Amino acid sequence: MNKLIILVATVAIIFACGNDTSKSTTSTTSSAKKAIASVDGKAVYQKNCIACHGVNGDMGVSGAANLAESKLTLAERITVLKNGREGTAMVSYSSLLDEDEMKAVAEYTLKLGQ
Ligand code: HEC
Repeated sequence: MNKLIILVATVAIIFACGNDTSKSTTSTTSSAKKAIASVDGKAVYQKNCIACHGVNGDMGVSGAANLAESKLTLAERITVLKNGREGTAMVSYSSLLDEDEMKAVAEYTLKLGQ
């Protein structure tokens, strides 16, 4: 009888540990995914760009170009972000955003015209 109780207890402990392990593995995996997930271009846009370009890209504050109608390619948009446009309110973002953020936000601006 004692043996049975010990066996049941052991199985219960193993089961509990197994459960814990799978739980922590799942959460580790999802936080790891978050860490390597690509940058949220929309969030970057909302933080840095809407003041002039507006939520839909067409607000035109301070002479801002209409991003919804812009014909620039992705690469050209990234170049604008890196260098800015001299003599305009469009300044260089290379000190504020890293490469991934500039690419993500440029990709997001392409969607504004769709
Ligand atoms: C302070 C106002 C301001 C902010 C903030 C701003 N821009 Fe601009 N942006 C401008 C102006 C002004 C122009 C037009 C420059 C010109 O006349 O060549 C422009 C032009 C552009 C262009 C070129 C479009 C084209 O067709 O010529 C892109 C792309 C662009 N901005 C993207 C962004 C992104 C992305 C952000 C946020 C990271 C941003 N801008 C933040 C003012 C701003």
